[in-house]
Amino acid sequence: MEGVTGAVYRRAHHAYFPGIDKYFMPFITPTANGRLTPRQKRDVAAEANAGVPAVPQLLTRSAPDFIWAANALAEMGYPEVNLNLGCPSGTVTAKGKGAGFLAHPDELDRFFDAVFSACRAAVSVKTRLGVRDPAEFDRLLAVYNRYPIAELTIHPRVRVDFYRGGVREAAFAAALPQCRMPVCYNGDVVSEAVAAAVGARYPAVRAVMIGRGLVGDPSLVTRLRGGPRADKTVLEAFHNTLYERYCAAFGDRRIAMLRMKEVWFYHLNLFADSEKYGKRLRKAAGPDDFLAAAAAVFRDLPLREQVEPGWFR
Ligand SMILES: Cc1cc2nc3c(=O)[nH]c(=O)nc-3n(C[C@H](O)[C@H](O)[C@H](O)COP(=O)(O)O)c2cc1C
Repeated sequence: MEGVTGAVYRRAHHAYFPGIDKYFMPFITPTANGRLTPRQKRDVAAEANAGVPAVPQLLTRSAPDFIWAANALAEMGYPEVNLNLGCPSGTVTAKGKGAGFLAHPDELDRFFDAVFSACRAAVSVKTRLGVRDPAEFDRLLAVYNRYPIAELTIHPRVRVDFYRGGVREAAFAAALPQCRMPVCYNGDVVSEAVAAAVGARYPAVRAVMIGRGLVGDPSLVTRLRGGPRADKTVLEAFHNTLYERYCAAFGDRRIAMLRMKEVWFYHLNLFADSEKYGKRLRKAAGPDDFLAAAAAVFRDLPLREQVEPGWFR
């Protein structure tokens, strides 16, 4: 998740909460000059991802740009590179990228034709069902099915849904048997019960991708894998490690605090009776206020069995 799960988050998360097969990185947009920017390099650098099964993600509609970047990442040791066809943001789709690319299936076909003849990494794809109407997916899947896509992650919403409203289960269920590649399900998995329901409903689905639910409840996947539930002591240790590493990475406690506030937007939903505490966290003007507000959450609030997603409201 852009702005949330960068290299610092991934490393700390993987150390505290093992069990995840792949961490898809926030997207990077390859430039036309054939070089990663210093900021992009910092996130994909081997040292920054040591021991973490990370998959870089590219956001582009240009096959040459995808190819140079994917091959550069393959040379750095990444066996898989993911294409983002899901981002619904207006600034991205206006340029025909992310979910905006879904409006151009013929161009997408030509894009894949070029990409799959020149890429040295396995290419996986993250997609939505379409731009406006899930019926668009038939045409898109006909394109996807022509190429050796390593894994197709489907977020069963359309671009105009952004992240709102229910996941379009009926359209996903109809599309799944037509998919020739391994499919990963993504969307609104926030608990063991939801993950189990996805597994039961779609036996052909071999993987789930979890975004907001995992930032909210960082031990969710560890539990799905039979590991322990994190108690408040572990969650607080993870929190403080993250904050300290952000301070070191940014060299600025205030920026570290702002990054932590993004994490709290999801994580606070794991605590009951959090309204006043959430206000205090959001209003914290400086790092000292912020740390005191965070410590109060861990000290005072009961932990829920599972996250109650405020982000659906
Ligand atoms: C703040 C934010 C940033 C995101 N950044 C990315 C991204 O860089 N790449 C991507 O594939 N999806 C991104 N997503 C989408 C999530 O990966 C995921 O598809 C979406 O949140 C639905 O799944 P969830 O309900 O498990 O969160 C982002 C979502 C949010 C809310």
